[in-house]
Amino acid sequence: MPALVLLGAQWGDEGKGKATDLLGGSVDYVVRYQGGNNAGHTVVVGDQKYALHLLPSGILSPGCTPVIGNGVVVDPSVLFSELSGLNERGVDTSKLLISGNAHIITPYNVTVDKVTERFLGKRKIGTTGRGIGPTYADKINRVGIRVQDLYDESILTQKVEAALDVKNQMLTKLYNRRAIAVDQVVEELLGYADKLAPYVADTVLVLNQALDDDKVVLFEGGQGTLLDIDHGTYPFVTSSNPTAGGACTGAGVGPTKISRVIGILKAYTTRVGAGPFPTELFDEDGEALRRIGGERGVTTGRDRRCGWFDAVIARYATRVNGLTDFFLTKLDVLTGWEQIPVCVAYEIDGKRVEELPYSQSDFHHAKPVYEMLPGWSEDISKAKSFSELPKNAQAYVKALEEMSGAPISAIGVGPGRDETIEINSFL
Ligand code: GDP
Ligand code: IMO
Ligand code: MG
Repeated sequence: MPALVLLGAQWGDEGKGKATDLLGGSVDYVVRYQGGNNAGHTVVVGDQKYALHLLPSGILSPGCTPVIGNGVVVDPSVLFSELSGLNERGVDTSKLLISGNAHIITPYNVTVDKVTERFLGKRKIGTTGRGIGPTYADKINRVGIRVQDLYDESILTQKVEAALDVKNQMLTKLYNRRAIAVDQVVEELLGYADKLAPYVADTVLVLNQALDDDKVVLFEGGQGTLLDIDHGTYPFVTSSNPTAGGACTGAGVGPTKISRVIGILKAYTTRVGAGPFPTELFDEDGEALRRIGGERGVTTGRDRRCGWFDAVIARYATRVNGLTDFFLTKLDVLTGWEQIPVCVAYEIDGKRVEELPYSQSDFHHAKPVYEMLPGWSEDISKAKSFSELPKNAQAYVKALEEMSGAPISAIGVGPGRDETIEINSFL
């Protein structure tokens, strides 16, 4: 069973970083396959807290080779500041591999992200402003810059020219901004070439050879299922495929190689940025979830929108990802509520709907249908096994499992590596 995918089952920030780090000690490779430094993955090891954006969370496990796959978009300035931040804290990052086919987030893509959001005004997506969407747009428009382009100055110059041709028209005529000079961008990008060189590799070959040798490869998703460009709440999504299929295209590994797909699922729901969110709370319960759960963005520092658990979304995540397991996180945050509402279906135009509606308009006015589950007041953060959980916490987990369509194989009861209850082994 060598290849596992670990991904967000909701709108991101489910605790993927912690889960990846937990498995990192037993896997040979951890691979990011999509997204970029829009991600914010928190890993707590002992009394040390790490916030990772672009680097795979496996970078904190000494035996593990971290890989940035072809499907990722790389901002070199962020990459180097993240690497040096880790090096200063004594983390060895020398094993990192980066695909030569990964696309580069150029400075103009960051500018375009910010100006287009401003231009959208009230209709903005609430992006992280890191240039993610424009970089993927360039990739699809075939005017993107790839890591390998940094090693051929003439090609790089032609490509930057092609990309800026249209963008400068747009920036100056539509957005009233100054044009961006080709040579300045080329110079900046070339400045990264030598520093990047030791990491650049044919990661597709490396990963497939590793799988042939029965090495264990873990694919770590950024964002979450409902932020997927195809399967999420479009247009309020990110511009890549965090869903399981994205691991194949974003790393160059065939679907037949993937044996397990683990959905990271928060015991309640959060979302950052704009877009529909049926179980969102605007009362003191929402405020309490935010406070107790520390729900503040790792990347942008924005408060996360909070709401109750939504089983319709969990079932949807099971379906579109072919989930084999769930890792339920932050169960400890729910301690202290007398009763915990769980959304089991929606009401749309007076009708009960059990599955996520494919129509965006329907989803926008879906009202949650709640079932009340009894809460618990005991501290669960020290629990090491399922049987140590209070009866009502056990029942909450079992109810979620039943509603969500895949077994819950691990439960997070705190942010630390060891604050986890393992039910079925992932490896
Ligand atoms: P990611 O983007 O999916 O990696 O998640 P984030 O790191 O953005 O947000 C998850 C937050 O929850 C982080 O602050 C984690 O340290 C924290 N966390 C993860 N699992 C648990 C858990 O089981 N309990 C608690 N209390 N915190 C957790
Ligand atoms: P992790 O990996 C939560 C959201 C943004 C915005 C939308 C598009 O930490 O779970 P983008 O900058 O990607 O074009 O923004 O997606 N978003 C995230 N929300 N967690 C993330 O990553 C996110 N990455 C992007 O807030 O709504
Ligand atoms: Mg996050």
